[in-house]
Amino acid sequence: MSLPDPALVVLVGASGSGKSTWAAAHYRAEEVASSDTLRGIVGSGPHDLDASTDAFALLESIVTARLGRRLTTVVDTLGFDPARRLGWLALARAAGLPGVVVVLETPDAECRRRNASRDRPVPASVLAGQLRRSREVAGELDGEGWDVVLRVAAEGAPPVPAVETARAAEHRTASTGVEVLLHVSRFPWGEEPMTWLRDIALAADEAGFAGLSLMDHLIQIPQVGRVWDPIPEPWVALGAIAAQGTSLRLGTLCTPVTFRPPGITAKAAATLSALTGGRAFLGIGAGWWEREHAAFGLPFPSAPERLDELEYSIRAMRALWAPGTKAYASDGVFLPETTCYPRPSAPVQVLVGGGGELRTLRIAAELGDACNLTTSDPAVLRHKVEVLRRHCADVGRDPSEVAVTVLDLPVVGRDRDDVWRRVEALRGRTAAATFAARTHAGTVAEHRDRHARLAALGVSQVFLSTPDLAGPEDVLALAGLTT
Ligand code: UTP
Ligand code: MG
Repeated sequence: MSLPDPALVVLVGASGSGKSTWAAAHYRAEEVASSDTLRGIVGSGPHDLDASTDAFALLESIVTARLGRRLTTVVDTLGFDPARRLGWLALARAAGLPGVVVVLETPDAECRRRNASRDRPVPASVLAGQLRRSREVAGELDGEGWDVVLRVAAEGAPPVPAVETARAAEHRTASTGVEVLLHVSRFPWGEEPMTWLRDIALAADEAGFAGLSLMDHLIQIPQVGRVWDPIPEPWVALGAIAAQGTSLRLGTLCTPVTFRPPGITAKAAATLSALTGGRAFLGIGAGWWEREHAAFGLPFPSAPERLDELEYSIRAMRALWAPGTKAYASDGVFLPETTCYPRPSAPVQVLVGGGGELRTLRIAAELGDACNLTTSDPAVLRHKVEVLRRHCADVGRDPSEVAVTVLDLPVVGRDRDDVWRRVEALRGRTAAATFAARTHAGTVAEHRDRHARLAALGVSQVFLSTPDLAGPEDVLALAGLTT
């Protein structure tokens, strides 16, 4: 770098852009007139804003005295005030010295990062204002008559690559008319849980699934596996999946209201939403398996009480996700404030799990974005959808606002031989024909036809869970169902 010397050197840049560091690297301490240093001399420290007036008065004296002697003077302030800049330039001109402006063009994110790691960070809102202002100032300088405008790019830490977590949710409806999400309920991850989860998520994204849901149980349920099989805490596992850079929507299916107080579930879902740029959903249900509650010391109230809790929880969570922090008192929910940050980046889709016709479907109609049914039997499904629609009419809800989603547990094979090999491996003591009928055992093409029939019944999302899902290749084999 060769700048004129002697000269007036005026620094411009937001807090943390590296002005003082740059000055110290190129000039003697005595040559630098820094407003922060002077605050420390006439005030309690470099950040004593009460001492600003005195510090700036001193700074003006120093700049005037030094330039009058034709001594190089570096002015280390934010440099945002045009009147001050022009005043210093006039002093330089009067002394016959050239005027130099040095603009620290450090990326905003790097300024924020450096600021955050300081002992006394500038408040984020103040820094945001400075970053805005520094862009304006960059445009003002050219017309001011400086001899040299030097733009210094950031030095130091290389930019941290952004994790691709904020991709928008894409709509990935298959031509069958339903969106297919992968539901993961078994975790045969061997010695490498993180590798397995990552590979499953990446395969689901590659195969075109619209999302991925995790089962929420404390002990592996008998319908899926053995009690000693691993079953992860889903919000922790979803956080890990969120870091893998997919476009998948992520959530639980279904979180029992009995596991966590509603505020804690609301916090988990809001955090997942923030981490994924708004791709979080929440399946929630009344819970059903007494054993896991007893094992973990959780109360397991009666079914009517759990349904009351379900209703209460959805209301409380929606209050916590809503804008503002005011108290909430409505429909039996009393919260003295609703301060819950981060807020979800987009509305969290609430799927009410279960097909109970008297209350569960009514709760879905009143408070849900979807009802998640655990049947894909057409006759049963048609009936449940009718009941849901009646509840919607009763509570005055537009039925198009309550999606019908289905947990689909099919056996899927490559061809007829593969289908029947799987049926034989999975059926246990159940008769093969019964098991095959119950699991709609068939090829991808046959399941596509079935999904199209589900769409015709009003189903918009299918959570697909195959009973023998072992690894990413099994996920990729399902790709034909998502297009
Ligand atoms: P400075 O203290 O130099 O920033 O650097 P500044 O522009 O003068 O900020 P204000 O206006 O006085 O608040 C801020 C932090 O960034 C580091 C420095 O060590 C300091 O902790 N830094 C600076 C780097 O890590 N790399 C650099 O290239 C420059
Ligand atoms: Mg400084």
